[in-house]
Amino acid sequence: MAIQYKSIVPWGRSFDEYTRMFDLTASELNLRILGCGDGPASFNVECNRRGGRVTSVDPLYRFSRDAIEQRIAETYEEVLRQTCANQDKFIWNTIPSLEDLGSIRMEAMRCFLASYDDGRARGIYLPGELPDLPFADRTFDLALSSHFLFLYTDNLTFEFHVSAIREMLRVAHEVRIFPILDANARESRYLNGVLETFQKYKPEIRTVDYEFQRGGNRMLTLRNDRDAI
Ligand SMILES: C[S@@+](CC[C@H](N)C(=O)[O-])C[C@H]1O[C@@H](n2cnc3c(N)ncnc32)[C@H](O)[C@@H]1O
Repeated sequence: MAIQYKSIVPWGRSFDEYTRMFDLTASELNLRILGCGDGPASFNVECNRRGGRVTSVDPLYRFSRDAIEQRIAETYEEVLRQTCANQDKFIWNTIPSLEDLGSIRMEAMRCFLASYDDGRARGIYLPGELPDLPFADRTFDLALSSHFLFLYTDNLTFEFHVSAIREMLRVAHEVRIFPILDANARESRYLNGVLETFQKYKPEIRTVDYEFQRGGNRMLTLRNDRDAI
């Protein structure tokens, strides 16, 4: 049975996972970072607690804390059910079991929820969505997309991917996207077209120290070098 998400689900990863997925060095963690589609991930709150400068933008942030909590509870069953039916598409070493997956994700999402009202008031959780971001050109050093672009290949068009990446390159000097696989752990059918379209932005595929989807240990980086970081 294939993994099929009817919509894009709120499901959150931790600071440690973001650091490994995006190969973020200690000095990069101090850059002005924009998380596009960070949803209920705890990267923002955990990084900012360490002195970072992360802003997250997501359509989810239009909703109240209670509404997001409710949506996470509904998503939880659905994601675990589909992951259970597709266990061969994942590598169970760092996360050894479905139970561990559930508790690791819930811990990150509880951490996000606890920070949400304050973070929204401070403007570090901003409602908004790709491909139209509410920021001036070059507001950020680094724009990240975790588990949104490419992962939802079956829900989003190629044209959406191109517009979204163009927008991320407008607001940041560098863009990093993880993973480059779709929800069924196949290389996204959009990858080659994206590499061709953005050739002048020096696309590079880097192997990183993170793999949960089987074969999902590569990220795409693109640079808008008019003035480097
Ligand atoms: C699977 S979650 C990933 C959350 C987080 N990035 C992580 O890896 O833990 C996907 C997120 O994409 C968000 N999303 C959906 N449409 C979006 C859009 N057009 N622009 C930005 N984010 C979007 C959803 O609200 C959701 O929070």
